[in-house]
Amino acid sequence: MSPVALITGASQGSGRAIARRFAKEGYDLVLAARQADRLNAVADELRSDDCQVLALSTDVSDPDQVQTLVDSAIERFSAVDVLVNNAGICLTGSFQHTTLQDWHSLFDTNLFGYVNTIHALLPHLLQRGHGAIVNLGSFGGKMPLPMMTAYCASKYAVTGLTQTLQFELEPHGIVVSLVHPGVINSDFLERAQFRGDATTADTSKARLTETLNANWVSQPDEIATAVWHAVRDRRPEIVVGLTAIATEAYRLAPGLVSWAMRSMS
Ligand SMILES: NC(=O)c1ccc[n+]([C@@H]2O[C@H](COP(=O)([O-])OP(=O)(O)OC[C@H]3O[C@@H](n4cnc5c(N)ncnc54)[C@H](OP(=O)(O)O)[C@@H]3O)[C@@H](O)[C@H]2O)c1
Repeated sequence: MSPVALITGASQGSGRAIARRFAKEGYDLVLAARQADRLNAVADELRSDDCQVLALSTDVSDPDQVQTLVDSAIERFSAVDVLVNNAGICLTGSFQHTTLQDWHSLFDTNLFGYVNTIHALLPHLLQRGHGAIVNLGSFGGKMPLPMMTAYCASKYAVTGLTQTLQFELEPHGIVVSLVHPGVINSDFLERAQFRGDATTADTSKARLTETLNANWVSQPDEIATAVWHAVRDRRPEIVVGLTAIATEAYRLAPGLVSWAMRSMS
């Protein structure tokens, strides 16, 4: 029987690339995202004699929908070996211009979306005594990014969640990994929300759009490779691509890097 990977946010960008990669590595798939049409298109593309796919429209911020997703996965495949928490949303803006509703919406998806899936699946993984959980963080979960207070806070929370779970679940045979992308050339920034007055929002959008053309920006396939290596090699943490230089510099010299970032903004 093939191993099974449950991947959230699998309808586009990194999630779709991760699904493709696990299909290639011989896994059956459980795919989740909210918009059924795009999700089903990915499922249809990947379904084959060698790869069974269950695609369920799910909002990961809703614990009941997530429980249904996990129950359906176990009913269909009897087991889930790997959980990839990838579904995430982005919001750019100063604290001053970010509403409380924005904060709740970011945390509901970027943090509680992960908590919900882990909470629903953990009894199954503990019962089996093995499994892997990969959480997609961000370089914004390892260093502060200007004008991204709420987003960075949600991703720092993912870092704390993941690193603490590593201690807790290792004795139970469950490997928990953190994959930090830098900027990804996905549809993420196109759909990102911008706060502030029109000029500030337009400037932020233009900067981020320009950034997407830079040669250090990652492609979704690179994120998929990092997730696969995290599972295959039981790696606790991977920072993807050249972003690793920035996060390492911030770890070694936070004051200097913060000064440089302030000077550039
Ligand atoms: N793109 C970047 O530059 C970047 C940088 C650092 C970290 N990351 C992180 O990397 C991960 C993937 O990013 P990406 O750029 O590949 O994303 P993306 O292209 O925007 O795709 C996001 C996926 O998540 C799904 N999704 C969003 N909210 C959801 C919800 N509440 N419930 C279920 N599914 C939901 C979307 O489908 P529906 O809308 O249909 O639900 C879509 O499939 C995210 O965790 C993100 O925070 C991205």
